[in-house]
Amino acid sequence: MYNAFFGFTQNPFNMSPDPSFLFRSPQHEEALANLIYGVQSRKGFIVLTGEVGTGKTTMLECLRDFLNAQQIAFASLFNSRLTVEQFFEMLAYDLELRCNKLSKTEVLLSLNSMLLERAGAGRTTVLIVDEAHNLEWDVLEEIRLLGNLENRRGKLLQIILAGQQELDSKLERAEFRQLKQRISLRCALRGFDLEEAAAYINSRMARAGVKDQKIIPHPIIEEIHYRSQGIPRLINSICDNLLLTAFAMESKVTTLEMLDEVTADMRLEYSKESAIPPR
Ligand SMILES: Nc1ncnc2c1ncn2[C@@H]1O[C@H](COP(=O)(O)OP(=O)(O)OP(=O)(O)O)[C@@H](O)[C@H]1O
Ligand SMILES: [Mg+2]
Repeated sequence: MYNAFFGFTQNPFNMSPDPSFLFRSPQHEEALANLIYGVQSRKGFIVLTGEVGTGKTTMLECLRDFLNAQQIAFASLFNSRLTVEQFFEMLAYDLELRCNKLSKTEVLLSLNSMLLERAGAGRTTVLIVDEAHNLEWDVLEEIRLLGNLENRRGKLLQIILAGQQELDSKLERAEFRQLKQRISLRCALRGFDLEEAAAYINSRMARAGVKDQKIIPHPIIEEIHYRSQGIPRLINSICDNLLLTAFAMESKVTTLEMLDEVTADMRLEYSKESAIPPR
């Protein structure tokens, strides 16, 4: 709506986990490097955790781009509220296994021969599970067993579990200790610090066509960082609403009053006492 007004060629703060808008903060860079390294060196289990909206799904999208480019086969599960039967069925569909997808035994046999064949040709296979904190115990147990498949060169299936921080605490529970022991790489995402948040906002605007932006001045960015706790998704929605408000008021520069209105409308909770005073 406001794109033409500010000179954007596309929406700078859209909410989708689009790799073309990737901002390579050191922690995102490290997480992606870990995922890629884990897959390439056949580490088996890799866990990516982080607060809601910190960029986990975005990292998985980037990993998928990498896997596609390297022609590495993968299955990707987004809906983690699955029964064991549904899990095997989805796995079979994603990996295009030629078998009765409704039979767990057939899927396992077919998967096993596919993994061995691929491993024999020096290739690996990946299972990506997003929202893994929602997985039921019995599905996690099946995933653990899949992670046991190996030949002398390493694990046959690389398994990436991504989820909110509850995943970490879930893995601490006694019944998951076998799985926990098998996790060879862990990475975590947190909110941006101020410098990263400023670079993030500026980079999204530049990517959308406005370099060296003056629309959101630095003191307002400081406030956005504070009120969003540096969480990328919250930064996006604050900035999007802020630009909309400025557009409605026909102003090319955003102000603290506009931000107050936006965060009040969003019912954003932050401690008012320690807010950075406006300059
Ligand atoms: N490094 C990044 N570069 C560009 N955009 C990012 C980055 N990290 C997060 N975002 C943006 O933040 C928003 C939330 O990211 P994402 O959906 O990946 O978070 P999540 O951790 O998967 O959240 P949830 O816990 O709700 O699943 C998206 O709009 C995404 O574009
Ligand atoms: Mg996500």
